[in-house]
Amino acid sequence: MIPIKMTTALESFLTQHDSATWARAFDSLLPAIHEVERNATRIWLRFYPLALADAVAQAEDVRKLETTLRLDGNYRLVDQIDTSHWFFYGHRFWPHVKTAIIARATSNTAAADLTGAIRDIAKEAAAAGRTDESLAMGIAAVGVMTLRQVGLLRFSTAPGAQPSPAGLLRKQPDTILAARKRDDGQGLMGWMRGPENAQYSVTFDETRSDGRFTAIKQTPLTNGSARDTRDYSSGPRRCHEGAVPVECRTASCGTCWVGVLAGAEKLSDVEGQEAKLLKDCGYLTSTEPKPVIRLACKAMTSGNVTIVIPTWNGFLAKGGLRGL
Ligand code: FES
Repeated sequence: MIPIKMTTALESFLTQHDSATWARAFDSLLPAIHEVERNATRIWLRFYPLALADAVAQAEDVRKLETTLRLDGNYRLVDQIDTSHWFFYGHRFWPHVKTAIIARATSNTAAADLTGAIRDIAKEAAAAGRTDESLAMGIAAVGVMTLRQVGLLRFSTAPGAQPSPAGLLRKQPDTILAARKRDDGQGLMGWMRGPENAQYSVTFDETRSDGRFTAIKQTPLTNGSARDTRDYSSGPRRCHEGAVPVECRTASCGTCWVGVLAGAEKLSDVEGQEAKLLKDCGYLTSTEPKPVIRLACKAMTSGNVTIVIPTWNGFLAKGGLRGL
């Protein structure tokens, strides 16, 4: 029986930790997370920041907060409990993760430490899913953070959409990694175009065989997205030029931010206005030249890359959120 009004010992424990502690816990788990999941785990924490969830939960006027932070799109994890991690290999283990977390929470036993709690969930989910713990660790971290942000009642009563392995997600982790590393051959047409006009695939949805567009070498990813004439306008964001939402194209609005699942090393360095805007938006605080979060209107590629597109954009840091 799931307690409706009671806060469980696990929930109380999870709320004791601030954003920085959660980020350190995620970082410390990275070596134990399979490579196929590692960047996805880092990206997810940027897509669903705890500071934003707490600010919304504490806001007297959510609409006013949304205006202050210039939030656009669906930023609410509570609406995406079973789907926010669709781009994880471990998405297929979500039912096991969810079951393990609910069992742990309702048993009302306290956790000793954050990473220990996540490891325990990963171990149980991996056993139930008959897989290696390293493949369940990232999705377990996501699950525990999701419980922290939405609470047990919402977590346990979310519809529980089942994973639908399709496309690349049917493949083994090593096959996925090999596919991500490969660059498109240029062929005879490439020879005629010349090396300066080489073309590369930008995959934005590994679950679809057609979830990609073509980018020309050393031009912004948004240029490639704009050349994709398929209709993306039914989505929740401003997708009027291909799959990547875009507005200013000059690193001023933050609309085009993306996570880089693979190929970050093939993208141009973050510098200048891109670095400043990533910080102002609160998307990224590191000074890495090749981070896993980029602005697609500034990132230029020299090979195939795999990205994931968030469901919202906004100015969190400039808007005043703490602890990003
Ligand atoms: S489109 Fe505005 S920052 Fe990239």
